Amino acid sequence: MKNNNPIGVFDSGVGGLSVLKEVLKVLPNENYIYFGDTLRVPYGDKSIEELTECTIRILDFFKTQNVKMVLVACNTCSANTINLVKDQYDFEILGLIKPTSDYVKTLNIKKIGLIATTATVNSQAYSLAIEPYGITVFQKSCPELVKLVENGETNTPHVKNILCEYLNPLKERGIEKLILGCTHYPFLIPAIKSLGFDNNFFVNPAICSAYATKNFLIEKNLLNMQKKGKCEFFVSSSQEDFIKNAKSFFGQINNVKLYK
Ligand code: DGL
Repeated sequence: MKNNNPIGVFDSGVGGLSVLKEVLKVLPNENYIYFGDTLRVPYGDKSIEELTECTIRILDFFKTQNVKMVLVACNTCSANTINLVKDQYDFEILGLIKPTSDYVKTLNIKKIGLIATTATVNSQAYSLAIEPYGITVFQKSCPELVKLVENGETNTPHVKNILCEYLNPLKERGIEKLILGCTHYPFLIPAIKSLGFDNNFFVNPAICSAYATKNFLIEKNLLNMQKKGKCEFFVSSSQEDFIKNAKSFFGQINNVKLYK
């Protein structure tokens, strides 16, 4: 494993760019290969068997790209498939659940909310990781949000109405923090904030996993020592749609390749 080999980052679509954005802040010198499985989005209503197939297809692709590690920028796969497949690969595969739960455990709170896809909620992965530490997790699956974000709709009255519907029951439970348990959701932060929530209220797994990635690379002596890294992007359907959508969330991306 060479230090300048890329880090693979994947999600069902543009959502994982919220993770890449945070990782780039703490590890700007690394090389990255981002894969957005835009042909198969959304992942959140798929079965574990389907999700496992998607995960293996992407990890096999990363293997051909000689990645030094993979950051799973998808809560749905982190919660459902990574533990099933990780032994088949000789590179480290980091998910989002552990770094996020490790952070939540350090908070002095009793109740936390989780918004996530149906598959993440059904897995109970966050509850199982957090509740033994005396913090109750109130979960809400939000099946409509991913499609809206994939279509570039993040801050309209329609989005705000849907968010109110999802968030009000959690608010009534007296939650003290909210885990944005799907990587598409950080792009909704301006809309959520306009409903009266402030920045301190959010737990963003993208940030927790960025630091976990850095710690892992330091521990394994795998940091890239070059001055500036590069990002390559792959999607499994329209490159144009991805570029257009990514522009407002992430910035201009010029070269996106197709891999089905
Ligand atoms: N962004 C992904 C997640 O964090 C998947 C969303 C989806 O495709 O349903 O769960």
